This record gives sequence, C-alpha cells and structure tokens, in this order.
Amino acid sequence: MDGTQLIGTKGDGMTLSEKRILLIIGGGIAAYKCLDLIRRLRERGASVRCVMTEGAQQFITPLAVGALSADHVFTELFDRQDEHDVGHIRLSREADLIVVAPATANLMAKMANGLADDLASTVLLATNKRVLIAPAMNPRMWSHAATQRNRATLERDGIAFIGPARGEMAESGEAGDGRMAEPLEIVTAIEQLLTDTPKPLAGKKIIVTSGPTHEPIDPVRYIANRSSGKQGHAIAAALARLGAQVHLVSGPVTIPDPAGVHVEHVETARQMKAAVEAALPADAGVFVAAVADWRTDGESGQKIKKEEGKGPPALQMVENPDILATIGHHAQRPRLVVGFAAETQNVVENARRKLAKKRANLIVANDVSHDSGINAAGVMGGDRNVVRVVSADGVDEWPEMSKDEVAARLADVIATRLGN
Ligand SMILES: Cc1cc2nc3c(=O)[nH]c(=O)nc-3n(C[C@H](O)[C@H](O)[C@H](O)COP(=O)(O)O)c2cc1C
Repeated sequence: MDGTQLIGTKGDGMTLSEKRILLIIGGGIAAYKCLDLIRRLRERGASVRCVMTEGAQQFITPLAVGALSADHVFTELFDRQDEHDVGHIRLSREADLIVVAPATANLMAKMANGLADDLASTVLLATNKRVLIAPAMNPRMWSHAATQRNRATLERDGIAFIGPARGEMAESGEAGDGRMAEPLEIVTAIEQLLTDTPKPLAGKKIIVTSGPTHEPIDPVRYIANRSSGKQGHAIAAALARLGAQVHLVSGPVTIPDPAGVHVEHVETARQMKAAVEAALPADAGVFVAAVADWRTDGESGQKIKKEEGKGPPALQMVENPDILATIGHHAQRPRLVVGFAAETQNVVENARRKLAKKRANLIVANDVSHDSGINAAGVMGGDRNVVRVVSADGVDEWPEMSKDEVAARLADVIATRLGN
C-alpha cells in the first residue's frame, strides 16, 4: 500500500483545498515559524485566518501575518468593528480546524482551565471544532508538573498534539523537549486530521516501542546498537493515522517524534520495560525497539580510567529484562502482542520459536544478515525493510518496501486483527 494514500494526498498537491484553518499564534520565539506554516497551508489550497495573542505580536507583526494569510488578522476581543463584522463566536465556528502554534505554556494552562480573558482563549473555549496544538517552550517549562498536568487534561479533552520535539532551544546552551514541530510536520498533522481516512483503530490504545536502548558502562560510555527508530516511529504514526491512541516508548533516537502520538523517552532496557508496564492496559503492544540483551553488571560511578599496564577492563555482563516476553505473559497482557525480531540466520525458525516462547501473536522478522539483499547497516538505520510476518496461521513474506510502507501494511493487519 502506498503510505501517502493514507493521508489522502491528491495528485495536484492541493491536499487542503477548501479547508478553512483558524491559526492562533501564541507568544513564543517559535512564532516566526508560523509565517512559513501559513505559506505551506495556502500552497495546499487551505484558507488561513489568524488570531494573534498580545504576546505573539511581540515576536512577529500582524502586518506580516496578514500579508501571508491574505486576510484580516484578529487581535482584540473587545474590538467593536471586528466583533460586529465577525465576532469571536463566528471566528471559532467558521473553521474546519483550529491550530494553535506556538502553543505557549500560558495558552495550554488557559485551555486546560477554561480561561477566556483574551480573543485567543475565548475562541478556544467557544469553539465546537477540533483543535490541534503545537507546544513550544523551554524544556523546563514543558517538563514542569503544572504543564504536564495541563497536557494530560488537554489530551483527555480530545485536543490533538503535534510535538514538541527534542532539540536545541533558541536560548543558547539549552536542549531538551520543547521545540515546536517543524511547519511541514504540522501540515502533515493537519492533513491527517482533515482528510476522511477511515479510523478502524478509533478507541483502541496501542503501546509501541522504538529505537535502541543505551546501557551505561560508566558516566560517559554505553553499549548500544544501530537501530534508528525509523521503523518503530513509522508504525506509531501509521497506527495513529488509523485512529489509535498511541503511547510510544522511544529509546535514544535522533529522529523527530511522530505526529499525533504520545511519546515517552527512555534510555535503558529497564526504563523501557517500566514505561511499557506503566502504560498498560492496552489493546495491543507492538515491540519494535532493538532492546539490548545485556548490560554491564553495575554501572561504574566514575569514568573507567585507562591505566598503564592494567589492560582493558573486564566487563561482566548480565541479562536485561525481555520486554516482549514480560508483556506476553503479563496479567494485563494486551489482546494483540506483536514482536520484532532481527535475525541473521534461520529467520523463520527463530521467529516461530519466539512466537511460542514469548506468547506473541505475530513476529515480524527481518533478515539483517549481509546476504539478505539489504545488509545489516541498510535495514538498521536505513529507509527500507524486508520482512516476514510469522503467526500461528503461517508465514507471510512481504516484498522489499520502505519502512513507511511496512508500517502502513502492519497497521492494517493490526486493525484487522483487533477488529475481529
Ligand atoms: C523572549 C521571550 C521568549 C519566550 N518564549 C516562550 C516560548 O517559547 N514558549 C512559551 O510558552 N512562553 C514563552 N515566553 C513567555 C510568554 O511570552 C508569556 O508567557 C506570555 O504571557 C504568553 O502569552 P500568550 O500565551 O497569550 O501568547 C517567552 C517570553 C519572552 C520574553
């Protein structure tokens, strides 16, 4: 299946023709990115009407926003002319989707608590339309307990999120979760919300793991593998597109968080297991992460020094928990458990064995040997994959395809299995 069809991409690129977007711009540094966002949305045929908070006007001007949106820019709640011509209620209803970008910590707090003390927050409270928010703030503001409480409330209220992503902040020397999603990622999230894709997984909660784990040796060294997280993240995104509520537990990766997915970042296998167990119950678990099988027995608190005549340290290894087997045998086992297996030999035989031993319903096996056609370095880290799906029903061999295509096809299989 062509993954792009899932978001209803039209051949002419006008994926949002006749769609009306109300863009609420908050007072954050990332407000400048909205100028590009407006342009990208209009290129795709959408009409964009903008509301700017007072804070937003400190960062970009209504003149620039109006020039790019080719519409009047709304800034005041108590503007007699605006209120007469359009009014905050009409503004909030005459849109197919409301997008808040950047969604400041302040705007999130107001939304979560039903405050309506300016035009932006009043529109957000008065609307009967879906709302997508793109949070952007300093990592400490994002991780603050108050903001996380507000995030959880907004998620419960059905507000859709895109980002924030992890990365460098505008403030020098600060990095972490809080960077606003890039304009094109926001556009994709908007397309997903506005196109009439069937949602066979609506109401289903699915846990996905992705990426490698890092097992520390000492404060500066760790054991890792080549997993990029591309396949797991693509699966999380594909499941979300089919309407699932996705909880993605991601190891350390350098790719952005997928759209429409709740992401929890972890480092080690033990943290990943704890995060997965805490996310239960779920309808399905898809375990794509390349979890390290072993870790060193006890992390050295100090950097292990290279000393003359002493030779290399003898690292004692111990086994990590097996997350797939743990969940397969868990008292709260999801109805559908899907494992991934990277093998270099006897791929199907090993997958069959895992199916039984780990109580999985499906094992998606990929051959990462150098004679598989796509070599180990190609599958782990690359954009393509060739898999066999092993279940009690037999072995389904899929042709080589992109990781996005594997993700879309697997999401369909999961939807079918959960639907029965
Ligand atoms: C230089 C500067 C940058 C700021 N960047 C952000 C930001 O990225 N995210 C955020 O939540 N608040 C940021 N703030 C704080 C908001 O501007 C402030 O909370 C404001 O009240 C938000 O108003 P609004 O939510 O109505 O737009 C920043 C403030 C300053 C002075």
